[in-house]
Amino acid sequence: MNDDTKPEPHGLTRGLTNYGDMDFARYLRLSMARSMGLSGSLLKKPVVGIAATYSEFNNCHRLVPELVAAVKRGVLAAGGLPLEFPTISLGEVFLNPTSLVFRNLMAMDTEEMVRGQPMDAVVLVGGCDKTVPAQLMGAVSANVPAIQVVTGPMMTGRWRGERLGACTDCRRFWAKFRAGEIDAETIEEVEGNLATTAGTCAVMGTASTMASLAEALGMMLPGTAAIPAVHADRIRAAEASGAAAMMLAAKKLRPDQIITEKAVENALRVLLAIGGSTNAIIHLTAIAGRAGIKVDLNRLNELSDTTPVLVDLKPTGPFYMEDLHVAGGIGAVLRELKPLLHLDALTVTGETLGERLAAEPGFVDRAVVRTLEEPLQPEGGLVALFGSLAPRGAILKRAAADPKLFEKEARAVVFTSLEDLAARIDSPDLDVTADDFLVLQNAGPLSPSGMPEAGYLPIPGKLARAGVKDMVRISDARMSGTAYGTIVLHVSPDAASGGPLGLVRDGDRIRLSVRNRRIDLLVEDAELARRRTEMGEPGPARPKRGYARLYKDQVLQADEGCDLDFLRAEPQRD
Ligand code: FES
Ligand code: MG
Repeated sequence: MNDDTKPEPHGLTRGLTNYGDMDFARYLRLSMARSMGLSGSLLKKPVVGIAATYSEFNNCHRLVPELVAAVKRGVLAAGGLPLEFPTISLGEVFLNPTSLVFRNLMAMDTEEMVRGQPMDAVVLVGGCDKTVPAQLMGAVSANVPAIQVVTGPMMTGRWRGERLGACTDCRRFWAKFRAGEIDAETIEEVEGNLATTAGTCAVMGTASTMASLAEALGMMLPGTAAIPAVHADRIRAAEASGAAAMMLAAKKLRPDQIITEKAVENALRVLLAIGGSTNAIIHLTAIAGRAGIKVDLNRLNELSDTTPVLVDLKPTGPFYMEDLHVAGGIGAVLRELKPLLHLDALTVTGETLGERLAAEPGFVDRAVVRTLEEPLQPEGGLVALFGSLAPRGAILKRAAADPKLFEKEARAVVFTSLEDLAARIDSPDLDVTADDFLVLQNAGPLSPSGMPEAGYLPIPGKLARAGVKDMVRISDARMSGTAYGTIVLHVSPDAASGGPLGLVRDGDRIRLSVRNRRIDLLVEDAELARRRTEMGEPGPARPKRGYARLYKDQVLQADEGCDLDFLRAEPQRD
């Protein structure tokens, strides 16, 4: 074969299997590629892989096929060959025991398929809570030029003159139902009106937060995080992302040049300013961990002290993601935060964040996105707590909590597992008052439940009926980004790994001080040692086989992002 007839070592001829005769490997692959019916000239183009996550078990991804088609148009128009491939898809409410357990599996799937298949760049199409972090984790590890597209948020629905959106309103109505304020017929009617379009939850829940952070990290095209799923701009964003992927491939601009320490800090600032989901701390820690960057909870507190809350979306405010989009989107938030951001961070457009912000138009609806001078709250939405109950930290979303409960010492009412919680929370005999702290054990990463969103413990039935709306609740679980309340989460180490949370007993005193960033179990060390001996070795049995076994052996605590230990990068040198 004459050398100048050989295709460049890009596109479909990347990463050929070595049979000892590389020309044969190329010939074999192209022969098979021919069966796809593509023209010979297309087969020589740069390849943009499209990680497609359509699944009928994922309502939030219903319009992924439409987005994939648009990405393909963008790639073709820019002179490339788009090739769609499937990966695992994670529909938040359809996975048992919890979607978080499968996030790392999806990240591995994404990483290996991006690395193992011949592509010059990849467009990641995700949306629901765990899919965007999984895709970004995989992309960082594969380190192939990559760009994120999200499915976008749902539109709100209307019901009896009220505006409803998943899923803060889901919780609001369920609380009314539990309190006996509405009947079974009404709650069924509400159920039919909460999620009425394709797309991700309509509030600043985890999916919206992760979309916002993907844009803040520079991994998504400017202005695209908040476009509603059903808006025509969403399709145009996908097409533009396909074209951008071609540029990324040409420049060989890789995730490790974009997801840097500065970009991660920018994302943390945005997380705090949007009053984002507590889950995002875990996900951002895991994404950064893939790049060898540590997210330190003490640093989170420093940033939180100097980052005001600017965005007034549910679950903390009255607005929805569609409002944020028309109010100016994440660009409006970034422009406001400009003095606090690292403007030299690179983005997928090839521009720095500073260049992006300088070029943007200025309209902002101030009802939805406030100014730095007149913020909604002077400090960030999230805060980390440390103390004898949580030596490696815990998270409180203070933006969604009741400040009246922030400095308080109280009696613990302990539930030892999710099963125990379900069995007793509504019992008329439960010894509990509104002044107590509810404690849930064994719902962390090493528990059999795998850290579900169970940290939003229901108010005990008898108290709910008496009108109690909030109590301090403490657990090693997570909570949905759409939830609210004075809820201390992600207590690390978790009870199942032998953390002090597992040593709490009914009647113990616990002191919470948000001002001092403390959460302490007021029990003598000798007594805790006695309880520890009495309990014996921590942890449930090791699963016999499969992914569950790998997960149990390798999963890290919440403060390390719940990634699998062997998937993290070696930390970068200082
Ligand atoms: Fe997918 Fe809420 S269920 S974003
Ligand atoms: Mg959620």
